[in-house]
Amino acid sequence: MSMTIKIAASILNADPINIESEIENVQESIDWIHFDVMDNHFVPNLSFGKGLLEALSKKRIKPLDAHLMIENPDKWAVEFADAGADSVTFHLEAAKDPRKIIKDIKSLNKKVGIAIKPNTSYEQIRELLAEIDVLLVMTVEPGFGGQKFMDQMLVKVELARKEVNKNNLNLWIQVDGGIGYETIEKATRAGADFLVVGSAAFSTNDPEKAMRELRNLALNSSK
Ligand code: DX5
Ligand code: ZN
Repeated sequence: MSMTIKIAASILNADPINIESEIENVQESIDWIHFDVMDNHFVPNLSFGKGLLEALSKKRIKPLDAHLMIENPDKWAVEFADAGADSVTFHLEAAKDPRKIIKDIKSLNKKVGIAIKPNTSYEQIRELLAEIDVLLVMTVEPGFGGQKFMDQMLVKVELARKEVNKNNLNLWIQVDGGIGYETIEKATRAGADFLVVGSAAFSTNDPEKAMRELRNLALNSSK
């Protein structure tokens, strides 16, 4: 089975005052805009909110993948879907009733994803895989860009890929955190097909070139 590679640009590390042009600059080499939402409670950092998401969605540059690193996604997930996210990913660790959130997002005809932090096991998410569109395996502790990729997380990606292939699930396997020249091929070889790239592109002086090169590495190493 061949995977279709999807690249998402995480704008957390883009130039905040030039977000729109930063995205436009890389748009040819990406499929999604990854929009990190942090509430300073679930993670020790604060980032973007609904207002910016809504403004970006009106520009229709690329579909928006909201990654909610916030408490109480039971309340907030639908609000981000309503604000214009095309896909909403919430953290399993923060959700009171994951099945209800899944149902709520799906009823708005949006994709729904669940993210798991490094200390959350594959077993804890396994029974929900058939009900979601995206599994996000965090490859760093959520909260900040520019951290080191955690190789041990690839075991979860491998297990998820086996399950997806075995049961023919319609599930994208996303990795987020520390994806760059040294790590992107490891991630695709383990079975990830949705790669979030932040500082590996935006901290260089030619993000467009970096995105293009990373995309080619992912394509050439995918199964
Ligand atoms: C981290 C965020 C990531 C982050 C990735 O908590 O969820 O999306 O921006 O940045 P890099 O690619 O620099 O690790
Ligand atoms: Zn993210």
